[in-house]
Amino acid sequence: CGIVGYIGEADTKDILLNGLEKLEYRGYDSAGIAVLNEDQLNLFKVKGRIAALREKVDDRVSATMGIGHTRWATHGEPSEDNAHPHQSVSERFTIVHNGVIENYYEIRDEYLVDVDLRSETDTEIVVQLIEQLYNQVGDVQQAFRQALSLLKGSYAIAVIDNENPDVIYVAKNKSPLLVGVGDGFNVVASDAMATLKETNHYLEIEDKEIVLVYRDRVEIQKLDGTAVEREPFVTEIDAADTEKGTYPHFMLKEIDEQPFVIRKIIQEYQDENDSIKLDEDIRQAMNQTDRIYIIAAGTSYHAGLVGKQFIERLSNIPVEVHIASEFSYNMPLLSEKPLFIFISQSGETADSRSVLVQTKELGHPALTLTNVPGSTLSREADYTLHLHAGPEIAVASTKAYTAQIAVLAILAVDTAKAKGINLSFDPLKELGIVANAMESLTDQKDAFDRIAKDLFDTTRNAFFIGRGMDYFVVLEAALKLKEISYIQAEGFAGGELKHGTIALIEDGTPVIAISSQENVNLSIRGNVQEVAARGANTCVVSMKGLEQNEDRFVLPQVHELLAPLVSVIPMQLLAYYAALHRDCDVDKPRNLAKSVTVE
Ligand code: G6P
Repeated sequence: CGIVGYIGEADTKDILLNGLEKLEYRGYDSAGIAVLNEDQLNLFKVKGRIAALREKVDDRVSATMGIGHTRWATHGEPSEDNAHPHQSVSERFTIVHNGVIENYYEIRDEYLVDVDLRSETDTEIVVQLIEQLYNQVGDVQQAFRQALSLLKGSYAIAVIDNENPDVIYVAKNKSPLLVGVGDGFNVVASDAMATLKETNHYLEIEDKEIVLVYRDRVEIQKLDGTAVEREPFVTEIDAADTEKGTYPHFMLKEIDEQPFVIRKIIQEYQDENDSIKLDEDIRQAMNQTDRIYIIAAGTSYHAGLVGKQFIERLSNIPVEVHIASEFSYNMPLLSEKPLFIFISQSGETADSRSVLVQTKELGHPALTLTNVPGSTLSREADYTLHLHAGPEIAVASTKAYTAQIAVLAILAVDTAKAKGINLSFDPLKELGIVANAMESLTDQKDAFDRIAKDLFDTTRNAFFIGRGMDYFVVLEAALKLKEISYIQAEGFAGGELKHGTIALIEDGTPVIAISSQENVNLSIRGNVQEVAARGANTCVVSMKGLEQNEDRFVLPQVHELLAPLVSVIPMQLLAYYAALHRDCDVDKPRNLAKSVTVE
């Protein structure tokens, strides 16, 4: 979900709508804004996208403060009633909220028995609670503070009070929220991207702080009322990077940006002697650990699986890769000196963050690899490695995945060197070759457009197979295809398909195999034969040097270890064209959100 708020002199509704459009990637099943002027509060809500909200907002309404929200449903179906902002019974207080209130039922049963709730959301109970407490204590700030002290769970909240158009009440716990500082105005946003047009100066808000956002000043307080002083930071995101330009979709733009991202990473991680440049503290942490635990979700988890191979094979440290949302329940026995590596494009994934909170409590060091340096996972970990991929806006992750793998390769080699292991592999040089190979692939989009048409235009399902390193890439390939084209897809270890899943192969079922690793080239081809014999429509993508006549596409040669960076590009493009041919919303697939800030 996304939050935006504005208080200043300008007409608020456009600032809110523009901001919400920038946040739409965080969730887009319903949206709303509330704007307040001296006379009245105007509330507009829709089920659906921001474009629909824009149509609904009355042009004649003018106000200089307000709040807005775009939603990814957790409690209650997507509907106009459940869309934010929500109001208290008297309609005096209006709220937008991200996160999940865990003690929703307790609060309802203890404080709100006489209140006629209007929605099914956990958010509404917060605004009703504020009103109930206000009725008792007669002071808004105090009521806000008391309400927050009763809430359990995650939240980023912005509240407005009809009786006071000069302040927005803001607070957060676990969910991301920033306050942007301007000249004669201030903004509130769950991501700076929403309000970059307004300002690039932002204040970080910490958990359990309360912020009073006025037109000309921002007051941060702790829950007990003590004032907190904090200087704003300047965000590095360039507003132009958040535009599609001439591309039809962000996803295609981001696929094309991958060679540049890899070159940027080389530049950022290279010192003047062409050696790896890395924070000495990170080097030490890697050197001291006896086992690494990689924690991530979705595409970042898949990058972690590749990273494990780099670290184990090159620097000899055992690595476990865990799905963030499972870690707490299936916690492995930890080694004596564990190091946790969090991989997260957004740095905000709540599942990963909850593991970080847990491992910090246990006193273990943590390193975050993220594309957003000021993000929660970056701030709360001991160390951060920046991915330098630039804003990734399409919901399906592409350039962040390859950036994660590239940075993990650099980290693994640096660690090996620091341990005195002699390697002939120079990742910075090899990544340069990868960048060129990537470019030659993104230049051949038509080929993938045609292959996608043949493989996916009429199919219900698809299988991707690979062995060794390629296995991890096919997991990502299947995820890409299913998330944007809605074709049911599975990634399988080549040798495992025959142990059950081969029962699903019918005449014409697409099976895509990657072969980039010499030691498994022949065996993966054996698996392709097995499915071809059962009628599958097969497609082998191989690496130069390993190719055979029937292969549909031959990848330019790169170092075997870095092959995932190259072999994933055709997979991203196949998914893109499959979705395009099926008229799917490539950048905003149904039911998904780019950054999932609830557990
Ligand atoms: C969401 C997105 C995925 C992403 C995952 C992890 O589910 O839809 O594309 O891979 O979150 O996100 P992170 O920002 O932690 O990498």
